[in-house]
Amino acid sequence: MIDMLRDYTGVDTMEVFRGLAAGPSDAVRAGTGELVLLRYADVRTSLPAVELTTQRPRRDVLALATLPDGSREIQTVMKAHYVRWPLFSDGDYHTRLRRHLVRSTSDVTDAVGAAALKHVVAVRRETGGNSFSWLEQVAEPIAAGLVARLLGVPADVATELIGWAQVIVRELTWPVMDDARAADVVRAQRALGDWLAGALPAASGATRYLRAVHAIADDPALGFESAVATLAQTVSGAYDPLVSVITTLATTVTPEVLATLPPATVAEEVLRVATPFRFSRRFTTVHTRLAGEFVPPDCRIFLALAAANLDPQAFPCPISMAQRRTPHVSFGLGRHYCVGAEAVRSCLAGVVRGLASVRATFTADRVRHAPELSILRFVAADGHWRPH
Ligand code: HEM
Repeated sequence: MIDMLRDYTGVDTMEVFRGLAAGPSDAVRAGTGELVLLRYADVRTSLPAVELTTQRPRRDVLALATLPDGSREIQTVMKAHYVRWPLFSDGDYHTRLRRHLVRSTSDVTDAVGAAALKHVVAVRRETGGNSFSWLEQVAEPIAAGLVARLLGVPADVATELIGWAQVIVRELTWPVMDDARAADVVRAQRALGDWLAGALPAASGATRYLRAVHAIADDPALGFESAVATLAQTVSGAYDPLVSVITTLATTVTPEVLATLPPATVAEEVLRVATPFRFSRRFTTVHTRLAGEFVPPDCRIFLALAAANLDPQAFPCPISMAQRRTPHVSFGLGRHYCVGAEAVRSCLAGVVRGLASVRATFTADRVRHAPELSILRFVAADGHWRPH
């Protein structure tokens, strides 16, 4: 059994997933009853499977009708936003969204790598031998810089948009229905919408991503609300995991790894070991057999990306970093494959090149994680440089 709702503060969650991956079972039950697939082979087959969808079953939407009036209204408005996200949609709607989004980040890929390298060099110069927060001085500004470049906005605007998107995304990890939180989410959705309404008229000369969002808003089968939902998912989906993975990079990469592996390989291995989104959520659409179990339609299942990436059958000595032939599943696979994968890879390789260029790695004195298991998030990563 895996309890996805308990407080994991102070727990080494990588060990949790390593233990699951090395254990005898192909699948376990979540505390809430769902099947959780653990093996790399099963997760890789299930991610693109057509009989599994990311879309909530209709009965979940209908259940809102049974709520008391005030609650029903706010919960319905909030949920109408989430069903428009690329990730939580499927079928023709998703295919159409996806057509607009494919390659929408290609114009920033090289620039974010160069900016990340420059940032590491600047922080090394500024902090010298002093203790500093890797999270606040390195990871967060680099990730905010990526969002700023995607949208073609200054850093302070990106930070404001990230704040709203975080209110929206963090609701998804909250286990109980809470109308006050839902009201905050709806306010954040409207704030993002207001910003987008102001930004779209100038979008034609702007970044590829903003042009893609503009095209979504203009597409009669999609429209403005889908553009806002896409923006919310992209900003939150870009920022939080990127901060996590840049921080894992700092706390795991040793001088030996830097000296022996090329930057792109280090980036790939850090993505695998960190796996910021620990689970992909799917729903069955038909009777299905998964990891040897029969599952009826409309059941929620979890694909444990974090366990699959540490499966010793696929990645021998899974915790160590090495040149691997097997691709990790940190960005998913198939029709929902991450739109920002190449930008993230470039950004991480930029940080690795930065460390090589300043001839130092980071030694952590204090690391703290957020309580949830579903997403890897740090709340502190303080330490100092170790020259080599
Ligand atoms: C380390 C950073 C990131 C990680 C680990 C990550 C991971 C993922 C994963 C696992 C999925 C698929 C989930 C599933 O199939 O259930 C996904 C989808 C997505 N990601 Fe990322 N992501 C990252 C950064 C970004 C960035 C920078 C962007 C910016 C464009 C982005 C935009 C998206 C979008 C729009 C989707 C939905 C695609 C669709 O459903 O068609 N992500 N990401």
